Amino acid sequence: MNETDKQNINKKNIDFFSKNSNYQNNVNQIDTYKILYNEITEIIRDTNLLLDVGHGGCFDYDTTKVNKIVGLDLDEMIEKNSIPKNVNLEVGSALEIPDKLINFDTVLFVMLIHHLVGKNVAENIENLNICIEQSKKALSKNGRLIIVESCVPKWFYNIEKVVFKPTSYLINKFMKHPPAFQFTKEIISDSLTKNGFKDVKIKKIKQGKFILQYGIKFPTILTPVETIIFSANI
Ligand SMILES: C[S@@+](CC[C@H](N)C(=O)[O-])C[C@H]1O[C@@H](n2cnc3c(N)ncnc32)[C@H](O)[C@@H]1O
Repeated sequence: MNETDKQNINKKNIDFFSKNSNYQNNVNQIDTYKILYNEITEIIRDTNLLLDVGHGGCFDYDTTKVNKIVGLDLDEMIEKNSIPKNVNLEVGSALEIPDKLINFDTVLFVMLIHHLVGKNVAENIENLNICIEQSKKALSKNGRLIIVESCVPKWFYNIEKVVFKPTSYLINKFMKHPPAFQFTKEIISDSLTKNGFKDVKIKKIKQGKFILQYGIKFPTILTPVETIIFSANI
């Protein structure tokens, strides 16, 4: 992907998610994300230093259970005066985590990976590998990566692969929401292993009645998506 295409995708993400109180309220209110809030809180409880990549101004967990949080996104995404006291914001990309962000006990990606799209499926896969690889330089010696992601079954993935190019063109042109690409849980798990992570664990989360798809509240029963939490040690 050339620089202009990258900047366009980043701009689409910023334009949609930055200070998007509608999206933030949906995450606070929709049942699936309330379930996730509790699940993520249990996982990150008592972490000393947490890097939340692609926070979107949402922080879908109890921020008081962590000592210090750094939120990294393409933009600050939220008014600085409305963030919890233990959160600092940094601007940058998951595909090139700033070198100064090191020694984190936990790196967290919540609903980030499906946004790291390139101009074709090969570039989407490359971006998946890059963000996992980049998390390693931010982690401390015994750190762990937690990925919360919306995944799809293999049959849907095979369709998505075929339609990605035309649909992402149309989404870019006609929708405010940026294009997205969802992986199977096996592909993400394999990428963690290939990138040297150990003890890869996968947990399927019970979804509520509603879920967000392209930023729109959708009955979960009408979508094939599964919400998965991956955890892996460096
Ligand atoms: C679906 S939102 C998730 C927000 C939040 N983590 C949550 O759970 O609701 C995806 C976020 O990923 C961010 N994002 C997209 N591409 C990114 C990149 N290359 N680097 C960092 N953040 C990115 C978007 O700006 C957006 O805030």
